[in-house]
Amino acid sequence: MAPSKYGYSSNFTDDLRARLSIVDVVNRRIPLTKKGQNYWGCCPFHNEKTPSFSVNEEKGFYHCFGCGEHGDIISFTMKSENLDFRAAITELADMAGLKMPEYKPKPAAQIAREESYFQIMKNAADIYSQYLYSSDGTHALEYIRSRGFNDEMIKKYHIGYAPKNNIISTKFINSKQDTLIATGLCRRGDYGMYDFFRDKLMFPIFSANGQIVAFSGRSLDGSEPKYINTSDTEIFHKRQTIFGLNFARDAIHRANRSIIVEGQIDAIQMQCNGFGETVAPLGTALTEEHIAILCKSNRNITFCFDGDGAGQKAAARAANIVMPFVRDNSEIKFAFVTGGKDPDEVLKKSGPDSMRKIIDNATSLVDFLWEITNKNYNTSTPGGRTQAEKFLNDLINKITDNNLRREYNHEYNAKKFNNWHKWKKNTENTPEIKLPEIDSLAQNTLIYIVNKFPEVAERYCDFLSTLNINYDNESVSDLSFDQSSAEKFIVSLKIKKYLEKLNNQKKEMVIAGLSGDSSVIEKITQIDNEINKSIKKLEDLSSI
Ligand code: UTP
Ligand code: MN
Repeated sequence: MAPSKYGYSSNFTDDLRARLSIVDVVNRRIPLTKKGQNYWGCCPFHNEKTPSFSVNEEKGFYHCFGCGEHGDIISFTMKSENLDFRAAITELADMAGLKMPEYKPKPAAQIAREESYFQIMKNAADIYSQYLYSSDGTHALEYIRSRGFNDEMIKKYHIGYAPKNNIISTKFINSKQDTLIATGLCRRGDYGMYDFFRDKLMFPIFSANGQIVAFSGRSLDGSEPKYINTSDTEIFHKRQTIFGLNFARDAIHRANRSIIVEGQIDAIQMQCNGFGETVAPLGTALTEEHIAILCKSNRNITFCFDGDGAGQKAAARAANIVMPFVRDNSEIKFAFVTGGKDPDEVLKKSGPDSMRKIIDNATSLVDFLWEITNKNYNTSTPGGRTQAEKFLNDLINKITDNNLRREYNHEYNAKKFNNWHKWKKNTENTPEIKLPEIDSLAQNTLIYIVNKFPEVAERYCDFLSTLNINYDNESVSDLSFDQSSAEKFIVSLKIKKYLEKLNNQKKEMVIAGLSGDSSVIEKITQIDNEINKSIKKLEDLSSI
């Protein structure tokens, strides 16, 4: 972790910036409205009546065109609340639901110690490289070539071979035993020191700035586990390290997105086949820290999972993890490998173009959450729908941006309404008496309302279901209705339709009444009264 002048790791402050929306932070003090790309409000740092204070959500910065103040969530909190740095990040940590790290500047001794570990790791990687091209490493070299690695790739990724004997513990006799153990390269056993990696194909794991901090060793004889990785050390924190990031950084910037695959060989093959922006977590566990790190570059992530059941599970887990990082401008997508078990296989079998199709056809976050919700629960029963709704709400509630969370709720309300509530299809409960036909303008307006204001539609579902309209058509143009006009429209239509219905009945009864039945005459009078009452109410309503 890089030390900062404040003694907090810059990871923590970056984490805060990644998790919190600057719009939310500023909005707590001053009201903002969106105009164009930015949000605007009256500057809290000087006196003004017209807004010249702009907030850029994407960049995480504010700037006042009136007084020139600018900065990020931390400086805003410090200045606007007159807090020192520590108090400001304490407040922001609270807002983000993060625990404050301990105040601990990194001591010089620790920095020196870490330097010595980096050196040992580098030396070890060099030795492993030499062994790959030695007679001891023939089988390893053959294997990695059979996996489509040429010498250039072997060199770039510093791939090596750890021989069967204890090469590190014997070659590094000048290093202290404790130091070797601290790097994770060696362990102490009953018979002295031994190497952790033996007879393994070695993949160095680099920190984001290119230092070797750990290794991942692949077994070559089919023995399990397939991969063993360095356990956490002072310089390696598995939860915060992303495989391939040191090589992918520029590409992530250029492509304005990152791709996350499940395995390290997949990441390397992707990087070498036109997807330089690809990385992998270590082992199978993707963490919030991984996402926070990637979000420092941008918030566009395409997850690419193996096409098996494990891949599906991993995708659902990833969705959970990514939610707090979603912003209104982020593009999160989920791709599933088909035509091979993982990206490496697809690239080899069908080539980069097939892989690009898989990436291009990835499902959006909105659709993916909806898909897994419907897959996981039986939404044709009230109980299933309740569970499904809870599942979905738990996910949506992780979105930290208030406006975005509201829009997600909106989106799913419409989907729930259209897909879970069967009445709108009007197949089973056809009304006994058909109402007069509704013209196409009114139909389109209703379809619009049902999709835009599902909660309003839900309230009038009994009426809406009698109209025999297919509300699934979402392509109706935007009518810019607000919620209360939507409600007025439904109610007035409802009254109008019932009046028409009553009028028709009245006509029929008048005809029957002419034949002299006195009970019919009474009924006509009753209906007439009702109609007049309704008309009166309608007039009252239209004056609201
Ligand atoms: P996979 O089982 O999908 O393997 O594990 P893979 O990446 O296709 O491996 P190759 O292509 O046969 O070499 C995905 C990732 O999970 C981690 C590794 O990082 C692997 O790349 N893993 C897997 C382990 O850490 N340990 C294991 O025993 C297996
Ligand atoms: Mn594989």
